Amino acid sequence: MTNPFQEKLTTLSQLEKRRELIPIKGIDFSSNDYLGLAHHDGIRQCLMDALADGMALGSGGSRLLRGNHPEHENLESFAAEFFGAEAALYMATGYLANVCVFTTLPQRGDVIIVDELEHASAKEGIHASLAKSIKFAHNDVQACEDAIKRARANGAKDIWIAVESVYSMDGDVAPLDELLEIADRHGAYLIVDEAHATGVHGPGGKGLAAVFEGRENLIVVHTCGKALGQAGAIVTCTTVMKDYIINAARSFIYTTAPTPLSALAVQKALEVVRDEPERREQLHALIQHAHQKFPSDISTTQIIPLMVGEDGAAFALAKQLQAKGFDIRAIRTPTVPKGSARLRLSVTLNVTTDDIDALASAYE
Ligand SMILES: Cc1ncc(COP(=O)(O)O)c(C=O)c1O
Repeated sequence: MTNPFQEKLTTLSQLEKRRELIPIKGIDFSSNDYLGLAHHDGIRQCLMDALADGMALGSGGSRLLRGNHPEHENLESFAAEFFGAEAALYMATGYLANVCVFTTLPQRGDVIIVDELEHASAKEGIHASLAKSIKFAHNDVQACEDAIKRARANGAKDIWIAVESVYSMDGDVAPLDELLEIADRHGAYLIVDEAHATGVHGPGGKGLAAVFEGRENLIVVHTCGKALGQAGAIVTCTTVMKDYIINAARSFIYTTAPTPLSALAVQKALEVVRDEPERREQLHALIQHAHQKFPSDISTTQIIPLMVGEDGAAFALAKQLQAKGFDIRAIRTPTVPKGSARLRLSVTLNVTTDDIDALASAYE
C-alpha cells in the first residue's frame, strides 16, 4: 500500500521544498530575539525567584476555570497601561491570538480587507472566520479603500482592515496613519499585528500603532516571542472587546492557560523594554550598519530580505553561508510569493558589527 504522506514528502524533496528541523548552530542572523532578551539575566533571576517561592509550574486549566493566575491578571493590567490601551488579554502564542481575534470579532455579514502579505496565522484566522474577506495589494492604501467601497456596495455590515505594522518577510512598514484615516472615514476597524515592531519600534518600543492606542476601532496584537524574548501574545483592545473574547472565543475558552511563569516572564520583558532603552538604541545602530552593508529597496527595519528568486537557489545560498558559520535561513514558497525566495537577514543584539561585516564578506 502506498503511503500518501510519504509520496507528498518525496514530491517536496524533488521540488527542493522539504523542510526539516535542524539544531541551533552558527551566528544568529535568523532569530526574532531582536533585543537579546531570551537570555536576559534579570528576567532569568526573577523567574528563578518566583519558582523558588512556589509559583505554580502549570496553569492547571482554562483561564475561565482554575487557570486564571495573578500573574496573568498582573501582566494584563501592566500591558494595558504600558501600551496605553483600555484593556489587554494574554494568550499562549501569536498564532493563537490571531486565530482568536479573526474568528471572534468579525461576524457573519462582515468583510475583512486584508493586505496580501499578512502573516499565515492571521490568514488562518480569516479563513476560519464567518466573515468574508478581500485581499488588497501590499501597502496600497487606495486598493484598500477601493476594496472597502466594493464591500460596502455589496452590503457588508462591519469592515475590518487587517495589516502588519512591520512585515515579517519584507521588513517594510505599513502606512498606519493613512489606513486608520480610511478606517475612520468608512466606520471600519483596524487590526494591526505588531509582531516585529513590539519592543523595537514606536515610542518607547511600544510598537508603531502605539500613537493611536485607545481608539475604539483599533485592535493590536503584540507577540511576546520576538523582541520580548518570551512566548505568547498580548491583544490590546477596548474593555468590551476583551470581555466579548473571553465570552465567545473558542480558542480562548477551550484551551489551557499559558503558564504563570510565561506571564511573569513577559511582564518582566516589558519592564526591560521600559527601563533599558539603551538596548533599543544599540539595536537601531546595528540595523543602520546592516543596511549599509546590505542595501535594500524594500526594508527599512531589522528584517532585511536578500532577494534570490528561485527556491532552490535561495536554499543553496543559505547552506553555503551556514557552512561558513552563519545561521541565516532561506524563505521559500509558500511563505513568500513564487519567484521571490530570499534569505531573511534578521538583525538582533545577538550579533556585533564585526559579525555583520563578516557575513557581508561571505555573501559577496
Ligand atoms: C507577523 C506575525 N504574526 C504572528 C506570528 C505568530 O506569533 P507566534 O510565533 O507567537 O505564534 C508571527 C510569527 O511567526 C509573525 O511573524
